[in-house]
Amino acid sequence: MQPVEIKKDIWWVGAVDYDNRNFHGYSLSPEGTTYNAYLIKDEKNVLFDSVSRSFTGTMLCRLAQTLSLEKVDYIICNHLELDHAGALAEVVARCKPEKIFCSQMGIKSMQGYFDCKDWPVQAVNTGESLSIGSRTIQFFETRMIHWPDSMVSYIPEDKLLISSDAFGQNISSTVRYADEVGTEYLRNAVEEYYYNIVLPFSSQVVNALKALSGLDIEMLAPDHGLIYRGKQSVDFILDAYARLAEQKPCRRALIIYDSMWHSTEKMAYAVANGLEEAGVPSRIMSIQRNHHSQVMTELSRCGAVLAGSPTHNNGIMPAMAAVLTYMKGLRPKNRVGGAFGSYGWSGEGPKIVHEWLESMGMEMPMPFVKTQWSPGHESLGQCHELGKAVGQALIIKCDG
Ligand SMILES: Cc1cc2nc3c(=O)[nH]c(=O)nc-3n(C[C@H](O)[C@H](O)[C@H](O)COP(=O)(O)O)c2cc1C
Ligand SMILES: [Fe+2]
Ligand SMILES: [Fe+2]
Repeated sequence: MQPVEIKKDIWWVGAVDYDNRNFHGYSLSPEGTTYNAYLIKDEKNVLFDSVSRSFTGTMLCRLAQTLSLEKVDYIICNHLELDHAGALAEVVARCKPEKIFCSQMGIKSMQGYFDCKDWPVQAVNTGESLSIGSRTIQFFETRMIHWPDSMVSYIPEDKLLISSDAFGQNISSTVRYADEVGTEYLRNAVEEYYYNIVLPFSSQVVNALKALSGLDIEMLAPDHGLIYRGKQSVDFILDAYARLAEQKPCRRALIIYDSMWHSTEKMAYAVANGLEEAGVPSRIMSIQRNHHSQVMTELSRCGAVLAGSPTHNNGIMPAMAAVLTYMKGLRPKNRVGGAFGSYGWSGEGPKIVHEWLESMGMEMPMPFVKTQWSPGHESLGQCHELGKAVGQALIIKCDG
């Protein structure tokens, strides 16, 4: 693929990673991903970010098609994570930039990853700007979206926001713009990305949206996936972020379970019936057959979580422990919860699951349901009641 001119004298020079299937090793990326890097040609030629190390050659070739490498004057590192800075050492060696700009915190991550003592690095803060000829670059730190070093760059003359990891999606494609794919496909990719990467930083997202609200943005160019061009597309992603950050309860429940001999599984289906009776649709996910990142993506559409695990070695199943650990780290808010599970003799499992959900701040309208060995009529009835009670509590939460 050639470099792509996204605005006059502004070029996409990134790399498409069609084969990535597990983004950073924790979140499935069934559509691959893209590492975006951008070049502005002006009196000073400025490169924004780079790519993952294994795509260094691809990026340098693309960059060299737009101008010779040693003509890059400035490099702006909006974020030093290695999917955007993996190629940095090679890029610096080849381009020999006059200056490298990053946030104050960026200097720390840069020093942590690179032998950069001889690099011409300069820290920039929110509110500072840099003149590059006919354009200016304004810097906004976006700390903890999603690293301490994260910042975004705004170019008012082009109404362009280069937004680093914020507003990205894991999409690999020969098209570069979000309006070239279907809206539902895009929305799903945005939700998947937000719920697996950005969710814990939702309060920072709210603040960032406020800070950026004064900007006239005609094009929003993230460092992963497709670029938003035009007001409609930009509004789509800004509105999506406002909605995702708010975590307003929605009337749908997520049921996750693990099961060795199908007892806990049967309980999960009874829970779904109870939810149905309360008028709440649900999605049942076996965590053997669904990756923890798929569970989180589904959670973006659910206001309740019902989790079931059999008791295993006086604890819970390892896959359930993994999902709950992952979920808790992503700090979902405003959820209703419920726990259930089968056991043989000691029966600690459901209580442990209940405590996990409670520790995530979930409202737990019912005690956990546990059943010895295979669930009979009575315990399936309790599971039904659990689903119903969680469904009713969720409806109150949604309406309230
Ligand atoms: C390896 C293994 C370890 C187990 N450890 C416990 C235990 O510590 N305490 C307990 O109450 N039941 C224990 N059980 C019994 C299961 O919890 C019981 O068989 C339960 O009904 C399984 O539910 P499931 O059909 O959903 O897998 C264990 C079962 C297996 C296979
Ligand atoms: Fe990142
Ligand atoms: Fe990234």
